[in-house]
Order: sequence, then C-alpha cells, then structure tokens
Amino acid sequence: MSDQFYFRALLSGRDFARDDPTARAMLNLVYALGDRETGEALLVDPAYRPDELVSLVRADGLEVTGVVASHYHPDHVGGDTFGADIAGIRELLEIIDVPIHVQRDEVEWITRTTSVGADSLVAHESGDIVRVGAIDVTLIHTPGHTPGSQCILAEGHLVSGDTLFIDGCGRTDLPGSDPEEMYVTLCQRLSEVGDDVVLFPGHLYSSEASANMRSVREFNFVLAPSTREQWLAMFA
Ligand SMILES: [Fe+2]
Repeated sequence: MSDQFYFRALLSGRDFARDDPTARAMLNLVYALGDRETGEALLVDPAYRPDELVSLVRADGLEVTGVVASHYHPDHVGGDTFGADIAGIRELLEIIDVPIHVQRDEVEWITRTTSVGADSLVAHESGDIVRVGAIDVTLIHTPGHTPGSQCILAEGHLVSGDTLFIDGCGRTDLPGSDPEEMYVTLCQRLSEVGDDVVLFPGHLYSSEASANMRSVREFNFVLAPSTREQWLAMFA
C-alpha cells in the first residue's frame, strides 16, 4: 500500500500562494492524500489558492475528489479574517463539485465563516471512514481548539489541523474553544494513535514539519501534565 498511497504537504506562501503575504505569514500546511492507482485525492484545508492546489494535485496525475476541513478558521477553509478575505472551500466549489467532509459540530461554524451552504457539507461522527480510492481515511473528532475540530488518520499519517502541533497545541481562547475538551482530546481521544504514526500539523510552527507520535509524546509540553487539574492549571 505504501507505493499506492499518495501524500503531499504543501506550505502556504512557498509551495502555493507565493504572492500572498497572508499565506506567507500564516505558514499553513495543506495536505493532499490519495490513491495513485485510481488517481483520486483528498485535499485537507485548501485555503488561499484552491485553484493552484487543484492544479498541483493534477500535475501529480491525480484528481481532487473530495475535501476534508480540519476546522472552521479562515486560514483553513477560507473566509474573512482581520480584514483579509482568504479564498477557500467556497472558491474551490466554483472550480470542482466535490464533497466537503466536516465534523457535525463544525457545520454551523463553517457555513458562517465561508458562506458555503450546509447542503455542500458532509457531516461526520468521530470514527467515520472516508474512502479515497482503496485508501481508508479515518476522521477523529478532536474538539478543544474549535467544537468540531478533527484529525485525519490515513496509512500511518495523522493530519492534525490546529489540534496538535509538534510543539504545543491549538489555542483554546478563541470563539468555540474549550480547554477542558482539549485536555480530553490530547489525553484520551488521541491516545489510541500509535507511536509510529507520523504527525503532520496544520502550520509549520517547528523546525521540523512532521514528527512521529513517540517523539511528540516525549517532548511536547502540552502532553506532559498527568492530570486534568494540572493540565487546566497550566494551559486553560
Ligand atoms: Fe485554527
């Protein structure tokens, strides 16, 4: 399966949207994953220049057949942020007609941020599997940063959006954030993910773009507290 599995990380402002100062400043990582044999691919968080992202996947010989949104923030799905209008899933849907896979708890937030109707979104429960070609992609509901944040697990790759970074985790002081949920996400909901799985976060906030969960568990300070009380005292 490893040769069949297509996986690509694309850094905003460097690999695409090079002329966009917001994209350069935000250091978002967009991921394309799919099945090289069937030529189908999913884009995770196609913001800034969805047209370029679709073209980059096409240049690799695959077609984007679906989108997964990690959460509602405009640097991941498009929308207005601090006066900047970021392109995202709304503009992508003008190019290609594909399902947008989201967690059920994020639907209202994404529709509000992007003006994409709920009928264009596929609402999922935690543990749902989306198939792309012969590849199973598991969606894990990981609230905390936002109510319906999700991580995407496929072929030993965990695409984590703004839930978990190599150093640190997503902010829990934003609209819809919940520090208690983040604690449960980090210490329980993601505890099933194996040590050999490699973490691919939604921003390049570390010198390394990815790391296996064994080293993240060893070195990431947000995974250090051993009790809920300790965690909340440090990070809430
Ligand atoms: Fe975010």
